[in-house]
Amino acid sequence: MRYYFFGDIHGNEDALKCCINHLSETRIDRVYCLGDIVGWLPFGDRTFKRLQSLHLPTVAGNHDLLVAGLFTDHPQQLDRMQASAYNAGLLSTVPGAIDYLSQLPLFIEEEHFIMTHHSPFHLPRSGEAVTIESFNYLDKTALEESLERWRTFPHSIIVSGHDHIPAIYELPHTHHSPRFEDVIVHRCEAIAPFVVRLKPHARYWIKAGSVGGPYRDGIAVCNSALLDTDRMTVTLFRLPFPLQRLHEELANHPFCRNLPTLKRYMELLEKSA
Ligand SMILES: [Fe+2]
Repeated sequence: MRYYFFGDIHGNEDALKCCINHLSETRIDRVYCLGDIVGWLPFGDRTFKRLQSLHLPTVAGNHDLLVAGLFTDHPQQLDRMQASAYNAGLLSTVPGAIDYLSQLPLFIEEEHFIMTHHSPFHLPRSGEAVTIESFNYLDKTALEESLERWRTFPHSIIVSGHDHIPAIYELPHTHHSPRFEDVIVHRCEAIAPFVVRLKPHARYWIKAGSVGGPYRDGIAVCNSALLDTDRMTVTLFRLPFPLQRLHEELANHPFCRNLPTLKRYMELLEKSA
C-alpha cells in the first residue's frame, strides 16, 4: 500500500494546490490529512472549502480546535490567538465549518500506522477533554519521556505533523529502555525527494513537515510524505510553489501588517521567491 500524508496547511491555498497536483500525478492508494487546515494565514475559509471537497480522513490540529473554540491557547501565544480569532470569523461564514473542525478525530489508526497531529503519547486519556497541553512541542525532554512508551507501542509507525520540520525519527530495536542518543533523525534539506528504507524491527516516527508554513526550517516549500509498505520506504517530498503571488496578497492584507509571525513569514517568501 502507498499512503500519502500532508498537513499544516494553515490557510495557504497556493501550497495546497501544489500538493493536490502532486497527488494527482503520484501513484497512491490512500491519502490522509494531518490537521491544521486553518490558522496563521487569513484565508482559512477558502482553504477549508478546498480541503473539505477532497473528503480525506483528517485528524484535528491544534489550530483547527483553537479556531473551533474547543480550548484556550497558552497566554504567551498572542500571534496565534489573533490568527485563530481572525480565522474563526472567516470560518463562521462557511456553513458547518466550525462543527466539522470541532468533530475531527485526534488520531486515526490503520493496519500499518497511527496518525495524529502531534504525538500519540500526549493525547488526553479516555474521558479527559483535549487541551492545548496535548500539543506542547516535542522538545528533548518530552521525547526522552516518550521513548519507553514508543519502544513498546503497538504501532511500529507513527505519522504526525505539527512541528513544521520534515524528518523521519528512527528508534532502533532494543531490549532495554532507549536513550535520547539512540534516536536517529533523518532530515532532508534538498528539494529532491528524500527516501529512507525502513528496517524490519526498528520503529519510525514520520514527521511530514508543513504544506503551508510558517516554514520553521527556513525552506518555503510544500512538504508531504509517502509511506510504501510494500517496498518498506518513506519518501519526503519538498515541492516548490509560486511564492511571489502569495507574498503580494499577504503584503496587501491588513491582517498581516503588524503580526510578527506573519511579518517573518512574508520576509521568508520575499527572500525565497
Ligand atoms: Fe501547524
